[in-house]
Amino acid sequence: PKVTFINPDETRVELEVPVGTSLMRAATAHGLDGIVGDCGGGLTCATCHVLVQEEFLPNTPSMTPNEEQMLDFTAMGRQINSRLSCQLVMTEELDGLTVRIADPQL
Ligand code: FES
Repeated sequence: PKVTFINPDETRVELEVPVGTSLMRAATAHGLDGIVGDCGGGLTCATCHVLVQEEFLPNTPSMTPNEEQMLDFTAMGRQINSRLSCQLVMTEELDGLTVRIADPQL
């Protein structure tokens, strides 16, 4: 399955993300600077903030209380479609997912 990341400069990068891999891992492994992911997916940094394109929101996994809480600490501020990309683990249903990388992350 594929995910498109929209960078803060509006360039788009499409990545093949294996099922079971988080968007944060995929982005950092491909050198997408906009995703920092300081805590390595431990839900303690909020530097992996993305905005999910609205039509994909129903397919995204539900949020844990910890993610809910950490979204209040993002540098950009929480939006209606905010998620932490370390918590978005790829599934077949998410094929085509498009997310905008939040700016700033720190
Ligand atoms: Fe730290 Fe997602 S990588 S909260």
